[in-house]
Amino acid sequence: MCCNGIIVILALLIGFAAILYLLYQTYSYIKCGCGKYGPFVSSYGKIKEDMIEEARVILKKAKHKMKVTDLGCGSGTLLLPLAKEFPEHEFIGYEWDIVPLTMGKIKAAGLKNITFIKGDYMKQDYRDMDLIMCYVLKVTGEPLGKILAENIKENCVVISEMFPLGHLEEIKQIDSSIYGVPEKIFVYRKPKAEKGNSKKGSTEKKKTVKSQPTKTEKAVKSKMTSKTVKKNAKGGKNVKKK
Ligand SMILES: C[S@@+](CC[C@H](N)C(=O)[O-])C[C@H]1O[C@@H](n2cnc3c(N)ncnc32)[C@H](O)[C@@H]1O
Repeated sequence: MCCNGIIVILALLIGFAAILYLLYQTYSYIKCGCGKYGPFVSSYGKIKEDMIEEARVILKKAKHKMKVTDLGCGSGTLLLPLAKEFPEHEFIGYEWDIVPLTMGKIKAAGLKNITFIKGDYMKQDYRDMDLIMCYVLKVTGEPLGKILAENIKENCVVISEMFPLGHLEEIKQIDSSIYGVPEKIFVYRKPKAEKGNSKKGSTEKKKTVKSQPTKTEKAVKSKMTSKTVKKNAKGGKNVKKK
């Protein structure tokens, strides 16, 4: 009887946990725009270690305090080990899902150099970041890359797990894997402003200036027009006389 009771309670608990998990998955899918953004899946396997290692190499070389962020940081799988290893640098995780965010905050208890911020990573200011990490969906790579290309500073490095980002300048690709399945890590920096574009811009400006007559040009033109009218009028008289 007692054993049966325990089995029933265990079954109820497992059923309850399964329902909670399903509810959370549905909430997460809707929250992430029904496939527009990646839901909460932690980095794992070799690719996680390779992401951390790539960041580690940059942070070790740093000569000043670095600001590091993970866009959609989940529960801090990438940021937490780095924050522990590099107390001299600052770590900021952006995450809009309250569940992984709370897990991250709990795991980070006692660490002073890491902050979890609830918010949309498409709407943040990245101008003072030195290192940006992300693990986003393929569809997000294009719009996110555009935002970063326009907003990061010259020497900021962007490391993207599994999926390429648009608009940024690629520094390198790193071969990695998840449990034997080959995957890549993409490393970027801000694209350099093209010299050709700026020249084109100045020519266009010049053209625009040329196409607008100045006050003097307008005055000369109106003077000439009035002279021509008078001349024509005179000519007209002459013609009439003839
Ligand atoms: C694939 S997980 C990556 C988690 C973590 N970076 C890691 O590597 O373990 C993507 C995370 O990004 C979050 N996310 C997706 N779109 C977001 C957005 N626009 N703003 C903030 N967080 C977002 C999801 O809630 C999810 O936790």
